Amino acid sequence: MRIDIVTLFPEMFASFLDGSLLGAARRAGTIDVRLTDIRDFAEGVHRQVDDRPFGGGPGMLLMPGPVVSCVEAVRSAGSPEARTMLLTPGGRPLDQPLVEELAGLERLVLVCGRYEGFDARIAQTLAAEEVSIGDYVLSGGEVAAMVIVDAVARLLPGVLGHEESAAQDSFSGADRLVEGPQYTRPREFRGLPVPEILLSGDHGRIATWRHDQAVAATVRRNQPSPIHSSSQPQRSPS
Ligand code: ADE
Repeated sequence: MRIDIVTLFPEMFASFLDGSLLGAARRAGTIDVRLTDIRDFAEGVHRQVDDRPFGGGPGMLLMPGPVVSCVEAVRSAGSPEARTMLLTPGGRPLDQPLVEELAGLERLVLVCGRYEGFDARIAQTLAAEEVSIGDYVLSGGEVAAMVIVDAVARLLPGVLGHEESAAQDSFSGADRLVEGPQYTRPREFRGLPVPEILLSGDHGRIATWRHDQAVAATVRRNQPSPIHSSSQPQRSPS
């Protein structure tokens, strides 16, 4: 899969792209991530990329000229057709079904905004979708692009190493449950024991218990209360 990231700050991606999981996937050729600097497509001595909004208002908007030229150049390099997404807080919320959809593409172009956002004609001209990683405002789309690349890359064959891992993640599978609690050694930590059933060796009962825990965790998470109490086991009497 090829992902192009269009940004004013390509240097923000250096350590992210070389990081363990993604770096290995890139070296293996599973994913090809390319960075293109919007400013390289700006005109004039000042290489201006942003300007004040018509009608007034705070901040600066990305101008259509440099962004559209940059994305068109990126899209015309190589085939096939690339789905193009502008990263903006008002876009379609990113979730695991959308991540799975994106992981099935051959090409994806992610366009990072800065300042107060994009001139509206950018999305129109490029027939681009708008995507948000959550209901909060970042200072730019770069971190959001990293979130998407990370979530997509780990679904590509061979990236996780353990093919079942992604299938067992929270939000995966037909029921989209979050994962329940998990435990590793030691069997007891500061008075907190590992639930007995996980030590029983009875795989059928363990699978049922895990499913029940996942259902409970999903219900708790979807409750309107902002408090997400965890379902940790009780301390053993000391
Ligand atoms: N740019 C600024 N905030 C963002 C968000 N929440 N999601 C995607 N891109 C953004």
